Amino acid sequence: MPHNYLPQVRSQYEALPYPPCNPQDDHQRLVKTWLEDLPMINHYCFAGKQSFQNGFRALVAGGGTGDATIFLAEQLRATDAEIVHLDMSQASIALAQERAQIRGLSNIRWVHDSLLNLPGLGLGRFDYINCSGVLHHLADPDLGLKALRSVLKNDGAHPAAIGLMVYASTGRTGVYQMQALMRLVNAAGSADGAPSGEALDAQRKIANTRDLLASLPPSNWFMRSEELHHDHKAGDAGIYDLLLHSQDRSYSVGELFDWLGDGAGGAGGHGLHLIFTDVQRGRSPYLPHMVLGRKPPAMAAALRQLPRRQQYAMAELMIGDITTHSLYLTRDAACTAPYGNADYVPFFFHEPLTGEIAAQVFNSNRGQPFVLQHQHSGVSVAVNPGKYGAKILRLIDGQRSFGEIFEQFRADWKGQAAAPDDAALFADFAESYDTLNALDRLLLRHRETGVFAAR
Ligand SMILES: C[S@@+](CC[C@H](N)C(=O)[O-])C[C@H]1O[C@@H](n2cnc3c(N)ncnc32)[C@H](O)[C@@H]1O
Repeated sequence: MPHNYLPQVRSQYEALPYPPCNPQDDHQRLVKTWLEDLPMINHYCFAGKQSFQNGFRALVAGGGTGDATIFLAEQLRATDAEIVHLDMSQASIALAQERAQIRGLSNIRWVHDSLLNLPGLGLGRFDYINCSGVLHHLADPDLGLKALRSVLKNDGAHPAAIGLMVYASTGRTGVYQMQALMRLVNAAGSADGAPSGEALDAQRKIANTRDLLASLPPSNWFMRSEELHHDHKAGDAGIYDLLLHSQDRSYSVGELFDWLGDGAGGAGGHGLHLIFTDVQRGRSPYLPHMVLGRKPPAMAAALRQLPRRQQYAMAELMIGDITTHSLYLTRDAACTAPYGNADYVPFFFHEPLTGEIAAQVFNSNRGQPFVLQHQHSGVSVAVNPGKYGAKILRLIDGQRSFGEIFEQFRADWKGQAAAPDDAALFADFAESYDTLNALDRLLLRHRETGVFAAR
């Protein structure tokens, strides 16, 4: 029996495991979580050099009903990696275990405990820790983060990373108004004379919420932003999690940099490097030039020169629809695979994109700047493809390194002057790479690192 947790939060997740799931669905489909795709983890957390062999260890802290755990375990099925799934809700663990059994996964260890006890559980250290949708439900989220860091590998030579998701303030404005409203309504009891306040049971609170949702005017802030949220349509567990949670806070970009990065005024933070990657959209909702790309203001170029933190904080307010912040936390920027090194293999990701298709799009204005309209992310942005962008994109096949691509480029060269060298080609292709990488559609791995299958 774990200790060191909020009793109300635990009873919620014992009664209403989250996310709601039917383990039988695992016969048909694999749920993929955005942060746990191994090629993404490799690119952003291990400089593109992680083999995921040699005893790789992942912890899923507050793993709930198992989405991240199952996805990691499936991808790592053929390796000697171990995944530890920890949660304080036994009901959630039971559902996750059933899913793993259906899939025949034997690389998961199950721990029923509070993540706040991690320093004393003797689980060893981890290369990667997922903690998604959990820290914002703790009385002291920083204590939770410190507990996670206490079991993160930290031996200098090998990088390790945390994949974190916490709520975002701007996109959840209507949610917090709705939570405040439901606290008032539930404290007043129900029209049919049911008890009020704490004594009101979860089912009655959920019924009250459903009643109100069906009657609120479109001017209500939750109704205005309803399309940003899905949980209230996902049954009792979803309604409770979104609108009735007893312990729930959110963060702005600035607050996350203060807490996790270098701290307010350069002091007090964890000193970690933050890599934001929004589900389906990558970094694009954090970049003013991408958010404003449809109709850029005169100041767009100047904003692009600002420090990362300032750009991200502005973009969050510009776009308004970020409801969760998903990010990797690494020791430093060197944990991201470097652009500009010929030993790295570029590959398309998250979409069935080929070099040929990308080349056609980037050559749509015959080598001149064009407006990229990216359907999946909703981004419209002007891109200068450079002189050689389309030719380089055409040679990307997920196997060749930049060095090999550039060799081929030079072998195909028909110009009068000498063919450009690697440095010139990297410089020419930089804006194309930046754009596709910001969308997480073009990633890198070191050429000596294998391709991860299980997709
Ligand atoms: C909103 S759910 C998220 C589940 C999962 N991480 C996901 O993203 O789908 C929060 C989970 O955190 C767990 N949790 C909350 N506080 C915890 C604590 N102190 N220790 C361990 N688990 C905790 C809950 O039991 C619940 O399963």
